[in-house]
Amino acid sequence: MNVEVFPAGEYPSRAADLIAGLIDDHQGDSVAVGLAGGATPAATYRELAMRAVDWQRVDTFLTDERWVPHDDLGSNGRLAIETLLEATKAELHRPAWAEDMDPHLSALLYEDQLKRLLPDGRPGLVLLGMGGDGHTASLFPETSALAEKQRWYVANFVATLAVWRLTATFPLLWRAHHVVFLVCNAQKALRIKEVLADGSDLPAAMVSREAMGQVWWLLDEPAAGEL
Ligand code: 6PG
Repeated sequence: MNVEVFPAGEYPSRAADLIAGLIDDHQGDSVAVGLAGGATPAATYRELAMRAVDWQRVDTFLTDERWVPHDDLGSNGRLAIETLLEATKAELHRPAWAEDMDPHLSALLYEDQLKRLLPDGRPGLVLLGMGGDGHTASLFPETSALAEKQRWYVANFVATLAVWRLTATFPLLWRAHHVVFLVCNAQKALRIKEVLADGSDLPAAMVSREAMGQVWWLLDEPAAGEL
């Protein structure tokens, strides 16, 4: 496990440099990158869009998505398009959404898309955030998706938010060649200390500890303040 700490003002650029390097170093004609949602990645995505990556070989997907219309301000897919994909023209594979669609069906269809995208089942990179409760993607504590050990993508009801989410599961995230956590801000510092300590069973710790590939925790100084 690699822990990199950057000054807050340099974080987006330094994180973008590291992610661009991992994409460039990935062997093969193409590389699949799972994109994180939430607010933290936006500044890093804008920096990443300016890196000289061969974006034509990059396919992207979402490590989780809110169950909202594609043009909703809360959509992670919309965030990715506005901050990274409009500029780079990298392909984005998004889960379907419709007013009367069942989120379980959308997750199943998306999983089929991902199985075609990932013949060996191994994303090149997955980018993840971490919530203040130690969730990552939409793997929230005490939700049913944590128990999923076969499927790659599921619908997950998050009772604490009273919302449906679509999320990559542990099996898919664990298979990535690189798992990159992007975590900033002092209010996450105590949770970072807990998650990086031995024995935590919070979702972010479970992804980090059981991953098959390289794990990177990219923190700004305030988020690393308790380490
Ligand atoms: C989402 C995310 C979620 C996010 C964390 C951190 O859909 O919200 O995928 O896992 O990464 O909640 O969010 P912030 O970056 O906004 O703190």
